[in-house]
Amino acid sequence: MKIVSIVGARPQFIKAAAVSRALRRRHQEVLVHTGQHYDYEMSGIFFDGLDLPRPDANLGVGSGSHAEQTAAMLRGIEEVLLAENPDYLLIYGDTNSTLAGALAASKLSVPVAHVEAGLRSFNRRMPEEINRVVADHLSDLLLCPSDTAVRNLAAEGITRSTHQVGDVMLDVLNWARQQLTERPSEILERLGLKRQRYLLATVHRSENTDDPARLAQILSAFNSLDQPVVFPIHPRARKMIGGARLAGHVRLIDPVGYLDMMALAGSARMVLTDSGGLQKEAYWLGVPCLTLRDETEWVETVEAGWNILVGADPAKITGGVRTFTPNACRPALYGDGHSAERCIALLG
Ligand code: UD1
Ligand code: UDP
Repeated sequence: MKIVSIVGARPQFIKAAAVSRALRRRHQEVLVHTGQHYDYEMSGIFFDGLDLPRPDANLGVGSGSHAEQTAAMLRGIEEVLLAENPDYLLIYGDTNSTLAGALAASKLSVPVAHVEAGLRSFNRRMPEEINRVVADHLSDLLLCPSDTAVRNLAAEGITRSTHQVGDVMLDVLNWARQQLTERPSEILERLGLKRQRYLLATVHRSENTDDPARLAQILSAFNSLDQPVVFPIHPRARKMIGGARLAGHVRLIDPVGYLDMMALAGSARMVLTDSGGLQKEAYWLGVPCLTLRDETEWVETVEAGWNILVGADPAKITGGVRTFTPNACRPALYGDGHSAERCIALLG
């Protein structure tokens, strides 16, 4: 079969690293990069560090409003689909690249397979929630990471072709662990960090970066902590933080590659994040997580007692850092690390 895969944003490069490898063993892949992310630290670094094949096409869409970005992607993806006439279009997650892929393909009657289908925050102010709902309703094969995701789809009337396959991000994390055993990352030494003596923070959700009051609350909480906060900063947050005053222990660094990120996360005392991917990685690595949001799609990590929702409330953030102790047990969540193979088998 010929499969066109759409990637464009950081977490999609990471997910594609697992799926592309499995896919190319059985099928022909045409990998399309929309260009949604384009800085080297947001894009190229993952192609270099994850053995991800080079994209066959880069649509060069870049940044813009939701409509501008999605419209440019739609046009570019339609052209590729008309030229390639694939058996399937494969999309990942919930970004504008995901939405554009689903729309372009379904209008051309190209079947759509959605990796990470069925997640819901039940918050329609979140652009990702809109992208997911639309993508799921247009998809022909729904590859869900959890039973919750399967249930979310059933509640919207989607019961055909939904499969619980686990999370392909665990496949990638297991690969990274192997790589790090063979060739350890030097990032802790480079940043002068000691294992378990620092916190790892990331912030990029529009609800946090684009709301000056929420962003100021998060930064004030970071400023009042009493240990190093390593903060690889997403360009969206960097723009908004601008010249804000940060205490010396808050270490802003450029975004890092995936292996360095897993090294940083694995040795951190705690992770503070609004990222979807990082909440799960913290769980799998056995690192407690404070989620800087009011809800999460990854509810199982909260139910298991390893993740708490602290929003942007400084008291909850600083209190959580001081006192949050995770459960003694940490059941396996989101599959067994062989999800990519399952996704590919379901494509036929
Ligand atoms: C996007 C996804 C989000 C995902 C995140 C992963 C949507 C609606 N959002 O959010 O679901 O969690 O990617 O990181 O698709 N920018 C740069 N350089 C880059 C990329 C972005 O400077 O390489 C800046 C631009 O100012 C841009 C802003 O970041 O306007 C936001 O980028 P965009 O891709 O629109 O959204 P993200 O916040 O990255
Ligand atoms: N990540 C990374 N380097 C960084 C920050 C994040 O490799 O500097 C990884 C992170 O570990 C996770 C993925 O990027 O695997 C998550 O991406 P992001 O938080 O941008 O998006 P989300 O998961 O929220 O959609």
